[in-house]
Amino acid sequence: MSRVLVTGGTGILGTALRPRLNMAGHTVRIMSRRTPKPGEDQGVEWAQADLSTGDGLAAAVEGAEVIIHAASAGFGDSYQTDVEGTRRLLEAAGRAGVQHLVYISIAGIEHVDYEYYRHKLEAERLIEQSGIPYSILRATQFYALIDEILKRLVRFPIAVVDTRLTLQPVDEGEVADRLVELAASEPSGRVPDFGGPEIRRMGELTRVWLAARDMHALIVGLPFPGALWAG
Ligand SMILES: NC(=O)c1ccc[n+]([C@@H]2O[C@H](COP(=O)([O-])OP(=O)(O)OC[C@H]3O[C@@H](n4cnc5c(N)ncnc54)[C@H](OP(=O)(O)O)[C@@H]3O)[C@@H](O)[C@H]2O)c1
Repeated sequence: MSRVLVTGGTGILGTALRPRLNMAGHTVRIMSRRTPKPGEDQGVEWAQADLSTGDGLAAAVEGAEVIIHAASAGFGDSYQTDVEGTRRLLEAAGRAGVQHLVYISIAGIEHVDYEYYRHKLEAERLIEQSGIPYSILRATQFYALIDEILKRLVRFPIAVVDTRLTLQPVDEGEVADRLVELAASEPSGRVPDFGGPEIRRMGELTRVWLAARDMHALIVGLPFPGALWAG
């Protein structure tokens, strides 16, 4: 049993990690830039810290044996948060004597010329060179992310999506299970990637998503622009 600091503890993955770490008997410390909402800090410690400035980081890592680093700014300033923020976190973790840092990354990022993915690769490199024992797990896209994307793209009565795009989405709860397993194991370096059980086209996922909501919309196929989707 360890004290586990979860950076990004309020995000999609962090929310899935929290009950699993509690169930495994760990002391859980959630890190966020904000104060907890009413009841949100029940059964956990709460650390307010910002990776992009370093504010609060020393106190957040103090006394933690393991860090699961799941904070990220995929739609924000990923250089300051994911690259410089990871550097700041590693420095603080080194000073605090953290024994194991578990990092969640994304499958296939070295094949896609996309700024956020370059920043994730840079964060991986910083961790590998930090001297802090680590495990790195790369996962495919979470169902919750596909859900968020479709919520934005489906505008009744039309859904404009890149129907040919292939994805291998995964349940974020299963990724959280794997991270909890890694956190309780010896540092393992880069471990095999973690993907969902099926490769599906975006058009098919959209049809399933609409059916599950009993919604009807005309699916219009349009290739998404840019290197991210091409990758
Ligand atoms: N989503 C996917 O499909 C997917 C797939 C594979 C891997 N991943 C990786 O899994 C990790 C978690 O993804 P997610 O989708 O769960 O993320 P998310 O829901 O977008 O949550 C992001 C988290 O990062 C925290 N954060 C952002 N900027 C921060 C800063 N400057 N300082 C401290 N905390 C900050 C946020 O906390 P506050 O807002 O509370 O401060 C929030 O808890 C990321 O590293 C991502 O690359 C995601």
